Amino acid sequence: MKLLILNGPNLNMLGIREPEIYGKQSYRDLEDYIRTEAKGLGCEVEIRQSNHEGDLVDWIQQAYGKFDGIVINPAAYTHTSVAILDALKAVRLPAVEVHLSDIDTREPFRRISYAGLACRKTFQGHGFAGYRMAMEFLISAVR
Ligand code: DQA
Repeated sequence: MKLLILNGPNLNMLGIREPEIYGKQSYRDLEDYIRTEAKGLGCEVEIRQSNHEGDLVDWIQQAYGKFDGIVINPAAYTHTSVAILDALKAVRLPAVEVHLSDIDTREPFRRISYAGLACRKTFQGHGFAGYRMAMEFLISAVR
């Protein structure tokens, strides 16, 4: 079981950006958390982050035939990117959406998720634990 974990713009600023919303832990801490949890779950992960929409689209396309599933936090592109939605639909890999914060209880513009339309499930508002939930979900969905 090999999962691709994708993180979108500004998530590299975790720990610095709006800690009252996203917490005080850094992006490095998030990567360490995901790797530790993945090991415990017995799955292989590749973790990538980009501030550029096209990188995320390229990585989703390249995952075709190489990964068993995708965990994606598209960050701000969640609410704007039809290109990421289309890429997820194109590869048809089982995908799960994660958000550290609860996007439904924030500004109204965060309530729309394009990427989420191509995802089997969304975990939001659970902080780092959402990534573990997503990996667990994909492991049981794919098996
Ligand atoms: C986020 C929520 C998005 O609305 C926001 O643009 C982010 C992070 C989250 O993880 O809570 O950058 O995806």
